[in-house]
Order: sequence, then C-alpha cells, then structure tokens
Amino acid sequence: MKIVLAAAEAVPYAKVGGLGDVAGGLAPHLASAGHEVWLVLPKYEAIDYLHHGFVPRLEQMGVPTGWGVEWCKVHERIDRSGVRVMLVENHHYFSRPGLYGDASGGYPDNGFRFAFFSNAVLQLCRDLHVAPDVVHVHDWPTALIPALLKYRFADDPIWRDCGSVLTIHNLAYQGTFEASTLSYAGLPTRAMVPDVFEDNGAANFLKGAIAQADLLSTVSPTYAREILGHVGGCGLHIYLQRRASDLHGILNGVDDELWNPATDPHLPATYSAADLTGKALCKRALQEELGLDPDPGAPLFGIVSRMVEQKGLDLVCAALDTLVRHGAQVAVLGTGEPELEAYFGQAPAWYPGRVASYVGFSNRLAHRIEAGSDLFLMPSRFEPCGLNQIYSLRYGTPPVVRATGGLEDTVELYRPETESGTGFKFWDITVGALLGASLHAIDVYRRRPASFEGIVRRGMALRFTWEDAAQRYVQLYEWAREKRATWRYS
Ligand code: ADP
Ligand code: GLC
Repeated sequence: MKIVLAAAEAVPYAKVGGLGDVAGGLAPHLASAGHEVWLVLPKYEAIDYLHHGFVPRLEQMGVPTGWGVEWCKVHERIDRSGVRVMLVENHHYFSRPGLYGDASGGYPDNGFRFAFFSNAVLQLCRDLHVAPDVVHVHDWPTALIPALLKYRFADDPIWRDCGSVLTIHNLAYQGTFEASTLSYAGLPTRAMVPDVFEDNGAANFLKGAIAQADLLSTVSPTYAREILGHVGGCGLHIYLQRRASDLHGILNGVDDELWNPATDPHLPATYSAADLTGKALCKRALQEELGLDPDPGAPLFGIVSRMVEQKGLDLVCAALDTLVRHGAQVAVLGTGEPELEAYFGQAPAWYPGRVASYVGFSNRLAHRIEAGSDLFLMPSRFEPCGLNQIYSLRYGTPPVVRATGGLEDTVELYRPETESGTGFKFWDITVGALLGASLHAIDVYRRRPASFEGIVRRGMALRFTWEDAAQRYVQLYEWAREKRATWRYS
C-alpha cells in the first residue's frame, strides 16, 4: 500500500509527547512490512536538518489555500527502513522555537499554521505524483485532511480512491479556532455546521474529522469505550457514538531498539530478566545523581510526565508527605503547568534526600528513572494509552496506575492469592485511593521480595510490539479504502 502519515511530531525529528513516539515508531514498521510510506512533518526550527541528512526535494511548492496560493519548500530523507520523511518548510509558520507554542501558551495562529500544513501534505502528493491508498492523520493538527479529501478534492483523480484514518491520541485537545480557519483551508461554508466542524461558533478541527474520516481509531480499547461516554467524551461523545462502529482501539507499540534495558546506552549498567544485577546499580546511580539518600532498601517511586491535569500529579502532591513517612523516595521528571512545576521544583527542599525532581525535558533522565526506580507512579485522570507504564514494565519497574484507558489495558492488577499480575491499580480519583495502591506496593516490595520479583519478571516478559500494531493499522487502512469507495458511490 501507499501510505501517507501526516503528523505534527515524530521521533527522532521533533517530539513533545507520546504522539511523537507513535508516529515515529509506526512509520518504519509499516515500511518494513513492505508498504510505501511517506511521513510528512512541518520543518520546525528544532529539527536537526543536517544531522538527519535531509536534502531539498521541491524548491518551490505552491499550496492552494482558500485565500490564495502560499509557497513553501519540501525536503526529504529516506530512513533506513525506507520511509520517505518529508519536511514542509514555511518560515512564517514553522520557524519558531516551539512546535505548538511557548511558555505563554499555544501560538495564536495555530489554526492557520496547521490548515496550511494539511493542504501542503496533499499538494506534496500531487507534485510528487503520489496517489496514496490511505492518508493516516493524527490528532487535531492534521484533522482537516479527511474533510479536505471529501469536500475539496473529492473528484481529483489522485484522491478519488484514497481512504482516510483519524487516530485520536488525546480527545482533550481538539483544536478549536476561529471559523475563518476553515475558509483559509479552502473548506466550504457547508462544512461549518454542528454535524461537522461547528462548535459554539468556532471551528473544531477534531470534531470535523470525527465526522469525515473514513475510519477512526484511538490508542487503546478501553479509551475507545470511555470516549463514547459523557465523562470521557470531552463534549464530543454524541458525535463519537454516531461513529461507534467505525471506531477502533489499537494499543501503541514500543520501539525495542530505544527502550530495552539490556542495550540502553543511557543507563550506567544494563540488565535483563535473566540477570537483574544491573538494575540495583541503576538505582544507586539515580539516587546519587538526584541527591537522594543512597539507601538500597528504600522503595523508590519514579514519575516521568507532562505536568498537566490529565496526569493526576496534584494527587501526588497531596500524597507525598505520607509516602515519605512510609519510607519511600520519589524522583520526578516533567514540565508543564507553572503551579505543578513550582511544587515539584520546591519539594526536594522540603524532603531532603527523599524527594528529587528535575523540571525540564531530558530523554536521558527519563530512561534512567525508568530503570533506577523500584515502582513507577502514573495516577492519570484519563490516559488514552500511555507509554511510560509500558516502558516501566519492560524495565522491571512495576507501575502503580489508575485503572483508566491504556493503563487499564496494559497493566494487570497484582493478585496475591494467585501470584498473578504486573502492577498495582486504583480506581477512584482520590488521594486515598492512590495511597492505598502505593502503600500496598511498598508493603509487597519490603515484606514479600519473592512476590515482588514475580511481578517484575512478568512485566518484563510482556511485549507491546509495533509489528502487531502496524498489522492492525494496515487492516484498518484496507477497510478505510472500502468505506471510501462505498461513500463515493452512495
Ligand atoms: P503523553 O503523550 O500524554 O505525554 P505518554 O506516556 O504517551 O504521555 O508519552 C510521554 C512520552 O514523553 C514518553 O516517551 C516520555 O518518556 C516522554 N516525556 C514526557 N515528559 C518528559 C520529560 N520531561 N523529559 C523526557 N521525556 C519526557
Ligand atoms: C497522547 C496520550 C497518551 C498516548 C499518546 C500516544 O499524548 O495522552 O496516553 O500514549 O498520545 O498515543
């Protein structure tokens, strides 16, 4: 198949969160399975162009917006799996320090930036004479594409048979902008209706794609169910319910080359399930690096997270005192909302030797926390999939999670009566529930080391592979093409 992946981020080029891991992880596995893959990204300032070996491909590409033609350049590199990675260069929109915004918030012209990018993705295919079988879009930044295919380019021979798939990585971010972004994108006024884009007088990009994409997916089966309900649906549950039979849940994979404790170059010592000695060294090095007491027996909780409401870190703030009183240590890495940053920035001074934090982005430290901690804490209010708990399972660091979305699907509750399970779970979004699960974890860690090691080993044996996920996406792409054909003749 010819597959175009249109995304706002992808590793190793540009990443803010898990979407980057997913777009960057899926593309090479589709290519390795024999498909032709174009991965299209904006050329952000942050992308290390020379390091990745990009070269100019189209010196001048005219992108027809609804308000006239805008010009850009296109660059290309072919990665070692054969993916053609294309960068769309437009200084006005993308030569900025952030992907989506800066410390003061999202860029005010984000709607225009990504409306332009969405049209550029389609124009690039036309200029390169690629007629894709499917375009796979991710979240709101590329969510205009399915509607462009249906309203704007329905009769264009390149796009006539092309299916579209929207993957929702996080329904909380919908991309709601002034209505004029739609006319700038070249979409007709009839798309600005409540059944498609209209949302209280504004244009909701994700809502439009939920109506117009041939098929929809999200990143875990449980989250796929949750978003059909009033609480998980973030105001769009009615529209998602209409498409319930077209909505699939496919768990994210993990790149074993990047996240494998046996080969991880970021770790002071490597280890595997067969020999866990290196893990104790990783703990010691982490304690030293972060200024925690060098106590090998203290249960060390790791946290790597965006500091936003979704992640439930406010519960951790409230629980910190009790955790420390029970002898735990806590190591936190993250960035996000100023209040949470300030709290976790100051907490090490209140609990010297017991709580450590780094407020910032550090891939190296993320790997070292996954490996050096005894337990991984992820108390998310909602979690479409979540990658960190999957990494922590692989790194022999049992997760303590709230049972929601992908956390529910990837972590199996530890049951002492059967000695089964891979982690600890709680259900209520309360400090008490978080403490209940965490103190249980501490108790098993301290008093039943054999049971704890069983939890560690069962987690390490699990695999969430991109091969499996890629196969499921290809199936979805085939169905999307069939749906597109049905739509065309209906
Ligand atoms: P989300 O996409 O909602 O942030 P995920 O668990 O799916 O959550 O993915 C988060 C990804 O971002 C992981 O790869 C994680 O290691 C990484 N990450 C998050 N915050 C940081 C940080 N401060 N430093 C380094 N990596 C981080
Ligand atoms: C989003 C979600 C996260 C998911 C990631 C990749 O950022 O918050 O749960 O793992 O996308 O799909």
